[in-house]
Amino acid sequence: YTVNWDVEAAEKGGYDHFMLKEIYEQPKAVKDTLSPRLNRHNEIKLDDISLTKEDLERFNQVYIIACGTAYHAGLLGKSLIQKYVNVPVIAEVGSEFRYNDPFIDEKSLMIVVSQSGETADTLAALRMAKERGARTLAVTNVVGSTISREADDVFYTWAGPEIAVASTKAYTTQLVSLALIALDMANKKGTISKEKFNELIEELRATPAQIEEILKMDESIKDVAKVITKAEHIFYIGRGIDYDVAREGSLKLKEISYIHSEAMAAGELKHGTIALIEDGTPVIALATQDRLYDKTVSNIKEVNARGAKIISLAKAKNTEISKSSDHVMYIPDISDDLSPILSVVPLQILAYHVATLRGADVDKPRNLAKSVTVE
Ligand code: G6P
Repeated sequence: YTVNWDVEAAEKGGYDHFMLKEIYEQPKAVKDTLSPRLNRHNEIKLDDISLTKEDLERFNQVYIIACGTAYHAGLLGKSLIQKYVNVPVIAEVGSEFRYNDPFIDEKSLMIVVSQSGETADTLAALRMAKERGARTLAVTNVVGSTISREADDVFYTWAGPEIAVASTKAYTTQLVSLALIALDMANKKGTISKEKFNELIEELRATPAQIEEILKMDESIKDVAKVITKAEHIFYIGRGIDYDVAREGSLKLKEISYIHSEAMAAGELKHGTIALIEDGTPVIALATQDRLYDKTVSNIKEVNARGAKIISLAKAKNTEISKSSDHVMYIPDISDDLSPILSVVPLQILAYHVATLRGADVDKPRNLAKSVTVE
């Protein structure tokens, strides 16, 4: 007999696509990123980051610069640093930052986030920051990449190689990395209570097992995907951190399924976008933030009244959301602060199934490159 030795199939380890394999690798990737940095006394040890309490007290602003999915991860970094390190944070995409006459000097810290460590606009922003005397810190997945070599400090996401163009495990590991960095800074600077710090560290430790739980919903999410495969437009809505995750969910869907999709701040809908909601328009509504839950539910009711098909994403305890939704995807309980680590996973799976049901080549979407090293 003959043996068909297909190298690519072997590399996919039994999965149909790299994207799906990488989605399933997330519990391990997150764990690999967290565990070397945490000891059993809940102390954070960041070997490659030499920022001191004095440095942190000197910074009067923090920039977080990245592109694409890495930018979406940066948005969580912004929320956490602003809230727990008590310093204003500006998050911006690299291509805008470099041409916007940014105010940046030696009292600034710039954090760049880049899976590849080679993205042209992110690298240009990093060089600009250095020229102006700012301190720089890179969060990247590639050891020895240009960005890792040029930044003052480096934090590696231990996601392992990411092959699919649509980023999944790089994003979740960027989220936990930024959470560790924010908590470490807050602890050093003395701007977080010991209780809150411990509580968030314990939550981070629980995330790999919780992601594992979400992966078990794969089949039921596929059923949800079947309902929206024929849509021409899909809207993602959310408030606060949910809005940041909505942007990532929307990007995932559009880049691999080619369905036009947009993410909107739920409270901003009525200022324009709601005009596009017709009978049957799918709306993916993220309602995982306890402090904003009621507000988001009232936005869900507004689009529901215009005939939208509502797919909600909520914490398991909020089952009454099913009354105003056609479908609900539930995530395990987690604080508002860290919810993206869990809430993005059903959205990745949803995008994957919609794209494959439409026959798209999810690992190699048209017009896209894994690493964009030109302007
Ligand atoms: C490309 C990729 C995206 C990625 C972005 C930034 O557009 O297709 O998946 O998010 O670049 O890449 P980086 O390597 O800097 O994270």
